[in-house]
Amino acid sequence: MVKFNLTLTDSDAPLHERLAQAINVLIEAGQFKAGDRLPPHRVIAQQAGVAIGTVTKAIDYLSDRGIVRGEVGRGTFVNAKRPSSPSTGEVDLSLSVPPLYVDEDMFVAAAERSARNVLKIPSGGLYDLKGTFSQRSVMAEWLTRTRVDTDPDDLVLCVGAQQAIHMAFSDVKKVSSLIACEAPTFSGAIVAANHLCLELVPVDHDEEGMTPDALDKALAETGCRAVYTVPVCQNPMGFEVGETRRRQILQVCLRHDARIIEDDIYSVHAGKGRLTYKELAPQQVYFLTSLSKCLTPLARVGVLIPPGDRMISITKMLRAEAFGAPPTALEFGCSLIELGADVIAASALRKEAHARTEMAAKVLQLPSVPMPHGAPHLWLPMSAVDAERLARRSLEQGVRVTPPEATALKGRKASGVRLCILAPEHRDDLQRGLAIIAELLNDSSAATIV
Ligand SMILES: Cc1ncc(COP(=O)(O)O)c(C=O)c1O
Repeated sequence: MVKFNLTLTDSDAPLHERLAQAINVLIEAGQFKAGDRLPPHRVIAQQAGVAIGTVTKAIDYLSDRGIVRGEVGRGTFVNAKRPSSPSTGEVDLSLSVPPLYVDEDMFVAAAERSARNVLKIPSGGLYDLKGTFSQRSVMAEWLTRTRVDTDPDDLVLCVGAQQAIHMAFSDVKKVSSLIACEAPTFSGAIVAANHLCLELVPVDHDEEGMTPDALDKALAETGCRAVYTVPVCQNPMGFEVGETRRRQILQVCLRHDARIIEDDIYSVHAGKGRLTYKELAPQQVYFLTSLSKCLTPLARVGVLIPPGDRMISITKMLRAEAFGAPPTALEFGCSLIELGADVIAASALRKEAHARTEMAAKVLQLPSVPMPHGAPHLWLPMSAVDAERLARRSLEQGVRVTPPEATALKGRKASGVRLCILAPEHRDDLQRGLAIIAELLNDSSAATIV
């Protein structure tokens, strides 16, 4: 065991913060290096002369700041990627990008492992454009463990969820030139629909997503036979569809013979169980997801599980668009999963999203939020004029929010502002950005939440 000497400063700060600082001093001095396991809590408690509970709080404090991480059953480890200091510049809350919770050592190990594996792929990777069987097996195991039972032969690996959306939309175009969806919706889905000359049909929602009556009406009136939905942490509005509502929505879709394109990309934050549309009606659903929001967008690995009878059509489309996703990227994503990076990232992301959601609700004085256990973004509903004004004024004061028009359907006015609360690397930056927005919201001439 590394010998260490903890010196707590004499200040008014709470005891656990002073202990955290003392541990951080040892890390900064190189006494505990990246990847090292910290001594057990009991040993730290003895050495510092404090209670074990204080050590736990101090470790949580360091973990919240990305300095160490706890691994279940293994202990507490020093992170390799040292977080930079909070910035004083612009706070960017416009992009839905999660912090990277895979430390540098693991990232490098995954890259090395994937480089070796990719060299074993026959025919220069031009063999199976859906991804090799072994890559599909890793992704199927990951999906089965985290979300939906999946067989490697039922899925196609692709370049992020965006390509999966584009392929699913292209495929449903053969039966429907209209796609019903929540309004507003994910900007990438709007871009894909526009590109394919598909029309998105807005469906009214309540705090749990599309209402079955509104969907029934929209499908009946327009003859639309496809529905795109983001049921967990809807982008941009942030709500989650529960089990009962899912069953109701599915019944409406079955009645109108409408296929569902289920975008499950935010499911790492699911708080209402693991029931998916895919599980309820495999032959009716295009299920898609990716590693972008639960691990890292740097891998750009997406998955599409089409209805079984659409697999041949989807494979031909993949062939037309590219000869599958780059084998190097797929191997890298698979290696991260095989090394357990997804488990570490998922638990850190959930914890961070929870803390930041609480922070945002408090600073913005929101009476409630759709996913109180934690979400990567929050939606502030307001009139189009107010949304545009809030986005402009906050930018003038150094806080960038998602431009309201990015998520509005063609011909519809933007009805709110999205804040990506996981985007800033540091909570302190988020706090600063939120405080500026709170001030603007207090000035009713700037914007009013409705
Ligand atoms: C709801 C939704 N679907 C799909 C995507 C695209 O994800 P990917 O980076 O995997 O292409 C995003 C990205 O922000 C998203 O928010």
